Amino acid sequence: MALRNINVNIPLNSISLITGPNGSGKTTFLELVLGFLKPLTGKLYVLGYEMPRNASKVRLHVSYLPQNFMRDERETYSVKEVILMGLASYYAPFQKPSKEELRMVKEVTKRLGISDLLDYPMGILSGGQQQRVMLARALIRKPKLILLDEPFSSIDRDSRKEIVELLSRIRDEYKATIVIVTHILSDVISIADQIIELRDGEVVRSKWIS
Ligand SMILES: Nc1ncnc2c1ncn2[C@@H]1O[C@H](COP(=O)(O)OP(=O)(O)OP(=O)(O)O)[C@@H](O)[C@H]1O
Ligand SMILES: [Mg+2]
Repeated sequence: MALRNINVNIPLNSISLITGPNGSGKTTFLELVLGFLKPLTGKLYVLGYEMPRNASKVRLHVSYLPQNFMRDERETYSVKEVILMGLASYYAPFQKPSKEELRMVKEVTKRLGISDLLDYPMGILSGGQQQRVMLARALIRKPKLILLDEPFSSIDRDSRKEIVELLSRIRDEYKATIVIVTHILSDVISIADQIIELRDGEVVRSKWIS
């Protein structure tokens, strides 16, 4: 069993950091929240819905940025196409993006500093550039809940600060709830409301930051 005795409350409109060593259960925690996994005991509610029973309903409002996002170098989707996939659950397959959706792409890429990359094939971008594209894809949905698994692993220090500030603004603008799994607390702690530390699948520390 990867997680035990987890009793945490993540309030709406907050930013929570999940930290802990490799194998402590951080990714597993996100997978539970997403409804990919079922708790063996106890109850789990996400956005007011019991999970995983209501997973499909909840996922409409959730963006998830997985830990290992790197695309194959042969990946031919353009940056623009990858970002638009973030809206895919809202439109029928093969439907052309609307003017409004293209405007949203422009806005989100500007905020993430990747406007110049829109027509590049995803596969040729650097790790940090790809990570920004995946963040753009996560944010364009204007999700109520944003789950980010090590979103800064390839982002340089200065850009990390900018993106952290952006996430803080996103929380306020979208009234979003954000959960960030990260090893590096120092850059993110300034925007955090709560830190949850896992070890061997248990919460060893959970702290509110006022
Ligand atoms: N599908 C699975 N089936 C069985 N065990 C699993 C499964 N997924 C993960 N585990 C185990 O659960 C534990 C926690 O894994 P998890 O991926 O959640 O750790 P993590 O905190 O995200 O680690 P990292 O910092 O390396 O990303 C590990 O011991 C792992 O081997
Ligand atoms: Mg992990």
